Amino acid sequence: YQAPAFNLTSVALSFDLFEDHSTVHSTLHLQRNGQHQQPLVLHGQDLELLEIKIDGEPLAEEAYTLAKESLTISNVSDTFTFECKVKIAPQNNSSLEGLYKSRSMFCTQCEAEGFRKITYFLDRPDVLSVFTTRVCADKSRYPTLLSNGNLMDSGDAEEGRHWAEWHDPHPKPSYLFALVAGDLASVDDQFVTMGGRQVELKLYVEEKDLDKCDHAISALKNAMSWDERVYGREYDLDIYMIVAVDDFNMGAMENKGLNIFNTSCVLANPDTTTDAGFQRVEAVVAHEYFHNWSGNRVTCRDWFQLSLKEGFTVFRDSEFSADMGSRTVKRVEDVQFLRTAQFAEDSGPMAHAVQPASFIEISNFYTLTIYEKGAEVVRMFHTLLGADLFRTATDLYFDRHDGQAVTINEFVQAMADASGRDFSQFMNWYHQAGTPEVAVTEQYDEIAKTYTLTFKQSCPSTPEASSSEKNPFHIPVAMGLLGEAGALRLQIKDERVDTDISDNTHRVLEFTEQQQSFCFDQVNEKPVPSLFRDFSAPVKIRYDYSTQDLLRLMTLDDDGFCRWNASQELGLAAVAALRGDSNNDAVNTLIEGYGLLLGDENLDPAMVALMLSLPSEAYLAEQQSIIDVDGNHHARLALIKQITLQLKTQLQSVYKRCQQQLQNLGRDVGAKAIGLRSLKNTILGYLMQDATAESVALCKAQFEQGENMTDVFSALTALVYSDDPSSEPVQVKALDSFYQRWQHEPLVVNQWFAVQSGNPKPGTLEQVKNLMRHPAFDAKNPNKLRSVISVFCNQNLVNFHQKDGAGYTFLADNILLLNQQNPQVASRMLTPLTKWRRFDETRQHLMKIQLERIAASDNLSKDVYEVVSRTLSGA
Ligand code: TRP
Ligand code: ZN
Repeated sequence: YQAPAFNLTSVALSFDLFEDHSTVHSTLHLQRNGQHQQPLVLHGQDLELLEIKIDGEPLAEEAYTLAKESLTISNVSDTFTFECKVKIAPQNNSSLEGLYKSRSMFCTQCEAEGFRKITYFLDRPDVLSVFTTRVCADKSRYPTLLSNGNLMDSGDAEEGRHWAEWHDPHPKPSYLFALVAGDLASVDDQFVTMGGRQVELKLYVEEKDLDKCDHAISALKNAMSWDERVYGREYDLDIYMIVAVDDFNMGAMENKGLNIFNTSCVLANPDTTTDAGFQRVEAVVAHEYFHNWSGNRVTCRDWFQLSLKEGFTVFRDSEFSADMGSRTVKRVEDVQFLRTAQFAEDSGPMAHAVQPASFIEISNFYTLTIYEKGAEVVRMFHTLLGADLFRTATDLYFDRHDGQAVTINEFVQAMADASGRDFSQFMNWYHQAGTPEVAVTEQYDEIAKTYTLTFKQSCPSTPEASSSEKNPFHIPVAMGLLGEAGALRLQIKDERVDTDISDNTHRVLEFTEQQQSFCFDQVNEKPVPSLFRDFSAPVKIRYDYSTQDLLRLMTLDDDGFCRWNASQELGLAAVAALRGDSNNDAVNTLIEGYGLLLGDENLDPAMVALMLSLPSEAYLAEQQSIIDVDGNHHARLALIKQITLQLKTQLQSVYKRCQQQLQNLGRDVGAKAIGLRSLKNTILGYLMQDATAESVALCKAQFEQGENMTDVFSALTALVYSDDPSSEPVQVKALDSFYQRWQHEPLVVNQWFAVQSGNPKPGTLEQVKNLMRHPAFDAKNPNKLRSVISVFCNQNLVNFHQKDGAGYTFLADNILLLNQQNPQVASRMLTPLTKWRRFDETRQHLMKIQLERIAASDNLSKDVYEVVSRTLSGA
């Protein structure tokens, strides 16, 4: 790391937006940083330089050098003003990075290195400055002109144009800059902060979407007060704006005072949005808001520190969602996601540490490891310190580093200083890639009444380090012991009994050695261990539970995660049994367990729904060194059918019970209603796998009479995925009428695309190609690409991996088309092909051919090049 050679004290920008080009005039006040004679080197990309001045004087051509991605001025004084005017073409910018047009609206996306596509700049996160921004555009096309901070002044200009000037008093790096110009309506609200500051809240959308704003606004207000209550953090401007745009590469962006959101992450309404959609909106709105402190007030020194803001902020938003809804359900959903997608990343060619050592294209490093694993690492601090000390540590971190650009080390130092603990070994979580495996064995001494758990850890080889080079992790193991009647009291041998501990059935062991034993005494019966409660560390847990142990955990454990995890373990064993790997004991025990769940009216319906959901095909795949795509799919389906046959009456009666309890809650999106719908629709999925006329009628009724999108869409999915040939005409009709009804709602049309692309029945690839010719498909819109191509390649495993390799060719064709148009999206789409080494030889070969074909093509973007070359290296 090298500190910047110059500091930027302030910046003035002036944008003139036109249909066929735009100009950006910028004035930078610079100051040499330290004693050196280095030249001024500014970043810049795809810019046409029109004017260049130093201290008001035009610069002679020989005084500066223009290169493809930089502008260098060799002779500058210690303090000076740099001015330039550049011409750019936002109307042709299809990369959705820098200044671009989303339909009729101008907007920006600057993280990570997009600002350099707007003007020449010190485009790095450790250069902070105060921005003043003037935007001028046609008044009738773009009545709304926005940028960061507060509106200072506005007025009319010649030729039907107008302007607005914004000033952001908080110094910020360029990646947090934003500008919007469009014809927008807004929903307005207010929030009074704990310090009494009146904050104006504005959500800007297209007029037609005004009916989809309430949920985001209430999520924002909840997030603002939650951050005050839980972290003591207050908002720091008089206005907070969110703008919804259709064309966006990611979910949303935390630009200071002016967040820009993918419409899919901010618009919600019970008619058009599923419960999952509502929850996503709440989480993303909160995530971007929380960045105001974890990211904006305290930012990253360089992009190797990305997880400093992202991991921490994901941890913050998941705790927020847990507090707003059902805590256990939120935790299980997060773990499910981590264990399928992030664990897969960690075991593939793109594996990297939470603090990576190198990258070619930073956009490729907005990964599940940086976000999700990063959040787990922060969570472990929370587990080790406890809520109170953790809060002391975050206070220290925010106060110490307010206004600074810092590293992950500073964050860890605050944790250490607040608690007096040593986290040097803990740093391995940041520096070592790969998912650790923890194998646990037990020994019960019936005479001495002692019970010993022995833990062994290892971490597989990853591209930058072999297994033998890796050092042991500092692993918190939250645990308990279950007797036949429930939790046992825990007494570690030779440990002084602390009578103050109120909950002596639960504790957090600290496992730091390569191998380590913990011995409990006064254990009067052989217990079943409940391990990694609440998933206390992001590891693969290896413990040889019997099916009866799992049933005990599933029904008796206090910990929701462990209960759910036991049901997943049983599910894995049952699927394996049907693939012929073991006996049927698991199937019977699983069905017995499901019967108990369905029969217990006191359980949380949302939890029951999660426990009734078998491990996904992606999770089944994660368990195998060579993935058996077809075997997994068919065994899982066979198990579903068997469960349905045996539990049919119970399933039907619980469906009815949920239906009754949901009366008058048709449009309610509180946790209770969401949980009931989730159970009801999980059951519907089962019933439709044994599609009797009765089930089809039930499903059709729900499709036609559903009062909300969750019910309607679940019914549609269950209908379409049913493999009963007699429901085929109903399927076609349902898809048609759904489209007719919702064709004017792009977000619903995306769902309509997704349900078809995800269809596991044979022949879907041809369907998918047809969908891409559908008038509602738009190859420039990332949401459309994701709902058709990514859903097919990531979620429809049997069809994507069809034996002739047609799925691979299809994906490669599309990546090659997208490579120039939108490198970020193209590169992200490559993920399914990065797993090629996990498949049988025939498939490996076919996937490799497509990877090589991509690698050999001309003009590969850095983004695609980096992923393809890492994926093929060593091949
Ligand atoms: N900082 C954003 C977030 O997590 C991520 C983001 C939005 C992003 N748009 C992007 C990252 C474009 C890279 C490229 O909240
Ligand atoms: Zn973020």
